[in-house]
Amino acid sequence: MLSDTSLREIQHELSKYPADRRQSALMAALRIAQDEHGWLSEPLIEYVAGVIRVPPVRAYEVASFYSMYELKPVGRNKICVCTNISCMLRGSDEVVEHLNKRLGIGLGETTADGKVTLKEVECLAACAGAPMMQVNRDYFENLTPQSIDEILDSLS
Ligand code: FES
Repeated sequence: MLSDTSLREIQHELSKYPADRRQSALMAALRIAQDEHGWLSEPLIEYVAGVIRVPPVRAYEVASFYSMYELKPVGRNKICVCTNISCMLRGSDEVVEHLNKRLGIGLGETTADGKVTLKEVECLAACAGAPMMQVNRDYFENLTPQSIDEILDSLS
């Protein structure tokens, strides 16, 4: 269910912890699995739990708690807009509204061409640069309608 490369990466993560603390590598293992498949299906979560040797429910708990894990398919690009307090006070409502208009989708939706999934997330710890959003692995801060347009135009 996972490539040799992904399994090697997980083993590398496991090597960072004592043998009786394998669960510590669970978050990294789920990230590695998601990087390969794009999202975490139930069988994939159970498979990762097996690799780490924890009960499947432990892996479900982690995968369903953190917004960085996807439990259903997403677009090729993922935009996570922070709407928590600092970003809200600095205009995240306008950011969301602009993204809704430009992309033609609401929060939690994916464009018809599968290019972009738009998500609302809690604080991403970049409050000093509010309003901000994460696009795939990159943070973009002090957003304006113009900078959002430039970011969207750069997506493949
Ligand atoms: S409130 Fe948006 S990054 Fe912290």
